Amino acid sequence: MKALIRDRYGSPDVLEVREVERPVPHETEVLIRVHAASINDWDWGLLQGPTLPFPFGPPRQRILGSDVAGRVAAVGSGVQRFCVGDEVYGDLSAFGVRGWGGFAESVCAPERALAPKPARMTFEQAAALPQAGQLAVQGLFASGPLRAGQRILINGAGGGVGTIAIQLAKLQDVEVTGVDSAAKLEMMRSLGFDHVIDYTKEDFTRNGRRYDLMLDTKTTRTAFEYARSLNPRGTYATVGGPEIARLLRVAFVGWWIGVTTDKAVRLIGLRQNRDLPYLNERFEAGQLVPVIDGPYRLSEARDAFRHFGAGHHKGKVVFTID
Ligand SMILES: NC(=O)c1ccc[n+]([C@@H]2O[C@H](COP(=O)([O-])OP(=O)(O)OC[C@H]3O[C@@H](n4cnc5c(N)ncnc54)[C@H](OP(=O)(O)O)[C@@H]3O)[C@@H](O)[C@H]2O)c1
Repeated sequence: MKALIRDRYGSPDVLEVREVERPVPHETEVLIRVHAASINDWDWGLLQGPTLPFPFGPPRQRILGSDVAGRVAAVGSGVQRFCVGDEVYGDLSAFGVRGWGGFAESVCAPERALAPKPARMTFEQAAALPQAGQLAVQGLFASGPLRAGQRILINGAGGGVGTIAIQLAKLQDVEVTGVDSAAKLEMMRSLGFDHVIDYTKEDFTRNGRRYDLMLDTKTTRTAFEYARSLNPRGTYATVGGPEIARLLRVAFVGWWIGVTTDKAVRLIGLRQNRDLPYLNERFEAGQLVPVIDGPYRLSEARDAFRHFGAGHHKGKVVFTID
């Protein structure tokens, strides 16, 4: 089968489309004929590898890609929920070294990593949803259901998580502000953001406005700065960001803010595949349409990864694998 392979860490230049052996499913796994897959921040991090001050071995995941959508091509003897021919999608990132491999014509996945794909959802739309969609759900509802009249801010709003979170938030009568770079603001307005802020021109923690909920994908400020921008009983929920040390500081100081004030600071740990049924329902109801950047072909992977790494993408970067 064709797969996007890398034998060492590095820039997108290390990626190559090559022929490799098709994997064989274990007892509780299905073999998926992959039709679409999307790039996540984890793929970008794994591509580059750890930044350690000593040498490390070759990458464990030769084939990246954890968000996949496709058709079941074979099932292990213990598989109960799926049959050959079923259309499925999911996030394989919870399953260690067997957990990636989606940027290929076929991949094996435990059946519990998968949900049935609604018939009207394209494979490209399905591949865009698992990680970003569930981070959006788990971040947005970190302190329970949204309430009418709430003011919400989404930071890093033009990427995968933000473009899904806005659609889910707007199912309630809430006012939503989105923060991202200038090139994405028009697209964000078209998705329903009431206000947009260009983070290169305005610091949303210093403009005097307050929010009941802040959902962050970048974590570029301190916990005190976030807390200052919250209304009483407000919640700041971050799903991540590029700097681990900053995230840990926000978690630690945020714990103290939670103990000493009526505000909450939460670090969201992704619970893979828990909310796919909810995303299916929203899609079926016509309330959610993933924003797709692409789709790209696997042969265009280097350019697609460069585009993602530069932060130029809008919504989710998706590959079609035919
Ligand atoms: N919690 C977990 O268990 C877990 C699991 C998986 C992933 N994650 C994390 O979840 C996040 C995924 O978010 P995503 O898929 O939405 O990422 P994304 O698609 O890369 O979107 C992030 C957006 O933020 C913008 N941005 C960059 N710098 C910014 C700044 N200083 N202020 C505001 N916006 C800025 C980017 O645009 P420009 O570059 O054009 O500015 C981009 O549009 C990542 O941080 C990832 O590490 C967490």
